[in-house]
Amino acid sequence: MRLTFTLTRFHPERDAHPRDEDYRLEVNRGMTVLDALIRIKNEQDGTLSLRYSCRSAICGSCAMKINGTEKLACRTSIRKELERHGQIRVAPLGNLPVIKDLAVDMSSFWSKIKDVTPWLSRPAHNSTVQPSPQSTSPQDSDQFHNVDACIMCGACVAACTSHEVSRDFAGPAALAKADRFIADPREPQAAKRARLVQLEQPHGIWDCTRCNFCVEVCPKDVKPMEAIIRLRRAAIEAGLTSTGGARHITGFVELVQKEGRLNEALMPLKVIGLNLGRLLHVLPLGIRMLLKGKVPNPLAPPIAGIAQVRTIFTQLRQRTKPS
Ligand code: SF4
Ligand code: SF4
Ligand code: FES
Repeated sequence: MRLTFTLTRFHPERDAHPRDEDYRLEVNRGMTVLDALIRIKNEQDGTLSLRYSCRSAICGSCAMKINGTEKLACRTSIRKELERHGQIRVAPLGNLPVIKDLAVDMSSFWSKIKDVTPWLSRPAHNSTVQPSPQSTSPQDSDQFHNVDACIMCGACVAACTSHEVSRDFAGPAALAKADRFIADPREPQAAKRARLVQLEQPHGIWDCTRCNFCVEVCPKDVKPMEAIIRLRRAAIEAGLTSTGGARHITGFVELVQKEGRLNEALMPLKVIGLNLGRLLHVLPLGIRMLLKGKVPNPLAPPIAGIAQVRTIFTQLRQRTKPS
């Protein structure tokens, strides 16, 4: 079968903008997109730049956008792409600067991984605290929630909506890596807390919009967004509740426990507190919500089944109480 591959080409020293270029290629059943790209480079256009190594979904270097979705080219079947999209379009990963054609600059990705200190901390000298265990068991490794399967391909960062808006956001891969060290029984408790304090700063765990794209595109089922949610939970459990994100969660839970429903009229007070300037800032939104009937009466009594709701909270607290 002879197919057209539309590739995004860009040479920053020569081109003002990226452009699409078509290549016709005879393909076999079972070929991957990476197989085709290598053949295009070897047989038709040696100037095409792309990055790959293992060809087995291990090294993470061949991540690119295939028909609009971040994927590993070496494990993307041409046949399946054709069945789903009727075409093969290949572009570089988004959210990262293009070096040339399909190769992107991963420097910012690596520096964010480095920023979360991706290694175990050394216990303090003369520490009076019970030392952490020095090895893990197979049971312990379950606590990593598959985060250690990350191959650093960058697909999640390229798909991240928060990263698209703010390049300073730590990003899904780095935050998932941080979660792995919070889960590690060998990491001293004080170091875990220090990590959480760092992670709750601006551009950290509370900047995620929970769009789930990182989960959808990850080729290794790392589920970075779930790692971020675990980090948020750990931060709140560690008493780090002064950020807007943490206050939103604790305020939400308090209101549901008290009234049996979310009361949008009281949420700004829970999140912002009595900061007049910031309350005035959200006032126009509150007025628009009021006009659309989205703001319940702040003085309304709890819902009829409030006793059952509170029982759920009591049982949940008992179930999650440390033994
Ligand atoms: S869920 Fe959060 S980290 Fe994942 S892609 Fe969306 S904004 Fe980014
Ligand atoms: S979390 Fe998944 S998508 Fe992100 S870098 Fe790791 S393997 Fe790639
Ligand atoms: S070439 Fe290594 S993951 Fe694709």
